Amino acid sequence: MLYVSKPPFDNPAPKPLMPLTRPTFVEMDDVSVTYGAVGSELALQAFSVRIATGEFAAIVGPSGCGKSTFLKLASGLRPPTAGGVIVGDKEVAGPLKFVGMAFQNPALLPWRKCLENVMLPLEIVEPFRSRKRRDRELHRARARDLLKAVGLPDAADRYPWQLSGGMQQRVALCRAIVHDPRLLLLDETFSALDAFTREELWGVVQALWLERQFTAVLVTHDLTEAVYLADTVHVVSSRPGHIIHSEVIDLPRPRDPRQRFDPGFADTVLRLRQKIAEARQ
Ligand SMILES: Nc1ncnc2c1ncn2[C@@H]1O[C@H](COP(=O)(O)OP(=O)(O)OP(=O)(O)O)[C@@H](O)[C@H]1O
Ligand SMILES: [Mg+2]
Repeated sequence: MLYVSKPPFDNPAPKPLMPLTRPTFVEMDDVSVTYGAVGSELALQAFSVRIATGEFAAIVGPSGCGKSTFLKLASGLRPPTAGGVIVGDKEVAGPLKFVGMAFQNPALLPWRKCLENVMLPLEIVEPFRSRKRRDRELHRARARDLLKAVGLPDAADRYPWQLSGGMQQRVALCRAIVHDPRLLLLDETFSALDAFTREELWGVVQALWLERQFTAVLVTHDLTEAVYLADTVHVVSSRPGHIIHSEVIDLPRPRDPRQRFDPGFADTVLRLRQKIAEARQ
């Protein structure tokens, strides 16, 4: 039987972790990471998690606890110092092609128009790369359709610096998924946006995820965002990070921003807030 995470720890979750019928997509077992020489301080220690195929997981925890480090392991950008990282049934041995990432800073190339920014992964990732010349028009159409899908039909021929921060972040999301990744990693992608824009982008990401059914992992400091978007929220301890609490968010889909004001939603946010307060001590 598969679980989204190992059963927790010192405080049992109010809702038990539910057995999943879907296979595991991301699996970490007893992982440690150190950034310095062997023996230097660990960033992650005894970090174990399971994320099911097609699941939307959120990772929350104090600053510096190792959340971005976890994303580096899941994308293959960094190997663990000890322990195993399996993504899509294979032990991770280097950067994975079927991953898309979006960060707090949209990091668009200012000299490229938005359409060309979105197309960037198609120039790098196989099998798109080898078909770059032949399928150029198909690739352009693919990028253009995505910009339309996130509400930016007129941005294709504009430069990133001609757009607002929220619009740039939509372009960055298109770039993250244009190559149809099986795993989307979001590292505080919405945290620099104003509250209304952030809420709009939650809707955009939820719609993309429901339509395309990739596995998603969101790292965030915003517990409302985590509960709104995720199937499961994992709380990480302070450094060296490991998961101290995992909670299934049993709200119907598609979710609506008004649900945030339901008592059950608010209770879940408060409970997670308490777990993070404990983690910071
Ligand atoms: N390249 C690096 N070299 C040395 N130490 C690093 C490096 N990257 C991260 N660390 C350290 O590892 C720990 C975990 O870092 P990480 O960036 O994963 O934390 P985080 O949970 O993402 O923090 P934040 O919420 O502030 O983004 C931190 O204490 C950090 O200082
Ligand atoms: Mg980080």
